[in-house]
Order: sequence, then C-alpha cells, then structure tokens
Amino acid sequence: MYGTQMDFDWSALDTLRKTYLNGTAGTADYWNSDTLLAAYDATFARRIAWKWQWVFSELHRRGWQPPSSLEILDFGCGTGVAVREALNHWGPTFASGITLKDRSVRALRFAEAALAREHPGVPIRRSSDSPPGMVLVSHVLTELDAIGESHLLNILRTAQSAIIVEPGTSDASRRLIALRDQLRSDFNVIAPCTHRASCGMLTKANERHWCHFHASPPPEIFQDGDWMMFGKVMGIDLRALPLSFLVLDRRPAPPVPRDVVRVTGNPRFYKGYALLPGCTESGVHERRFSRRTDTRLFRDLEKGRVPSLQHWSLDGTEITAVTPVTNPDVTSA
Ligand SMILES: C[S@@+](CC[C@H](N)C(=O)[O-])C[C@H]1O[C@@H](n2cnc3c(N)ncnc32)[C@H](O)[C@@H]1O
Repeated sequence: MYGTQMDFDWSALDTLRKTYLNGTAGTADYWNSDTLLAAYDATFARRIAWKWQWVFSELHRRGWQPPSSLEILDFGCGTGVAVREALNHWGPTFASGITLKDRSVRALRFAEAALAREHPGVPIRRSSDSPPGMVLVSHVLTELDAIGESHLLNILRTAQSAIIVEPGTSDASRRLIALRDQLRSDFNVIAPCTHRASCGMLTKANERHWCHFHASPPPEIFQDGDWMMFGKVMGIDLRALPLSFLVLDRRPAPPVPRDVVRVTGNPRFYKGYALLPGCTESGVHERRFSRRTDTRLFRDLEKGRVPSLQHWSLDGTEITAVTPVTNPDVTSA
C-alpha cells in the first residue's frame, strides 16, 4: 500500500472480514498472528484512519479542540489506529500518557510497538490509576456483549471526554445512540448532535434512517495497485467509507447558530428533488430540496459532498436556501 508491495495472507484477512460482517467477531480473540495484525493495520485500519481524519475535520469545523496534556485511553485498541491518528492530528503534546486496552495481548504488543515507533517519548501503559482525560473507541461497540458494554460505560463515566467512531451501519448507529442516551446527562454532546435532547432518529417516522456519515479516502489510492487488489479481493467499494460517531465532553459545547441542522441518514432522491433528513433539537425531519433551487448544490448532494452542518431557509417543508455552517473563528478545515 502506498508503494509498499505487501504480501498479505488474503484468506486470513477475508476470514476476519467475514467475522465482522456476520457479527461473530465478539465471541473470541481473533488476533491469532502478528502477520494478521500487520495486514489489518495496512488495510482495514488505514480505512478506519481516514474515518478518524474526517471526524477530526468535523470537530475542527465545529470549533472544538481537546485540552492539551491528556491521559488518553484507547479502548479495544487493536493495532492502535485511533490513538495513533489522534497523535498525528493533535501532536504529541496532546497526550501526557497513553493507556491501551484490548482483550488481545498480541494486539496490545503490536499497538505499543507501533506507537513507540511513530510517537516516541509518549508514555504507554496497559493500566492507569488516574481517570482518563479522553477515551477513544474505534470499531469496538459491535463486538461487546452486555457485560463488555457495561464495562465500557463505566469507563466512559469516569472520563472528561470521549470520541467513539464506529461503522456506518444501522446496527452500530443504534448501539451508539443507546450509549449516548445513557451518557447525555453526564456530558455535553459535541457531535454529531448539536444538542443533548433525546435522539430524534428513534421515532417510527425515521425507521428507514440511521445516523451515519461518509468520509472520503485519499484520491491516490485509486492509482495504487495494492489498494485496487485489496478492494477486488475483499469485494469492498473503496470509495465507500460510512461511519457513525459520537463526541462527548464535560466542558460546554462550542456554540452553534440557532436552528442549525445536521444532515444525517440517507437523503432520498426523486426526479428533480431530494428529501433530506435534518437533525435539530426538535427531532429528525425530512425536508424537500428541489434541484432548481440550487443545481450545483444538488449535484454535490448526489455525490455525498455537502457540509453536514447547515442552516436551512424554509417555505413550509421546502428548503429555499442552504447555508453551510462553520464555527465563526474557523476558516478552513
Ligand atoms: C475491529 S477491532 C478494532 C480495533 C481498533 N480499535 C481499530 O479501530 O482498528 C475490535 C477490537 O476490539 C477488541 N475487543 C473486543 N472485545 C473486547 C473487550 N471486551 N474488551 C477489550 N477489547 C475488546 C478486539 O480484540 C479488537 O482488537
């Protein structure tokens, strides 16, 4: 990948992917070799890294920054992609120390070695007496049974902040919403919600929707033979990077303009118009956006390239104008 000709054990990767897809990954430790961890790290974990990068940009647009010098806990770290990306994004001073947790000792060893190589000097531990400043959770929720989930919930309750990034499936989104519901009285919700009211996605009218977004892979992967091979062998559309996420903080959330709408779920396209699901404190409601209102924006919408935080001018249920919303002191993402 990125020029390194990797000789993967494709069949081991394929078996791993099948356990993710059929929901059996939670039943036992599947990290049975270092080569599997290395192949995962160069493939699935890179795709997860791009989702984390998208979440960081979204947080930047939202005007949110973590405090510096935090104790970070990466729960279900696998190869450590979440904390490694956070350090890449916020720099080494963001972390005073890192605690890695995983049921797999082999994964812990892999993540420790990768962190020490990429971010030397940041203390790494397997347990800590002090409560975490930030908990990172990446693609773990769907592997947890009730006991595992309640353990995670207890850890989250001791933290100052948390970022959870999960696959963009309806199952992962519903589990994330359930987690949010149990934590929203303790934390401010930073993203994706612009409020801490109960989640509007759960009503009967929104049964077809789930809260998810789409990150983009770097364009150069489409010129990379290894990535092309990976997509073909695994049967993955490399353009698709759906994710669900949740960011919580005990500090107040950066203010958002009144009536801001988070566009989430699946827009439905019809001849000449689309129905956009928009989330506000009062719920998730579909509004109609006509192609003739803004042809260029409509095209971007069809390609999934619209800012997810928007202000809508409405005439009844028809959107008459869309203004992207960015925190006033944020000029670029
Ligand atoms: C899909 S992998 C994700 C790894 C990494 N966070 C990432 O985003 O690439 C899920 C990880 O959760 C770990 N895991 C599953 N159940 C766990 C539990 N009950 N406690 C701790 N870790 C667990 C697995 O061993 C695995 O490393």
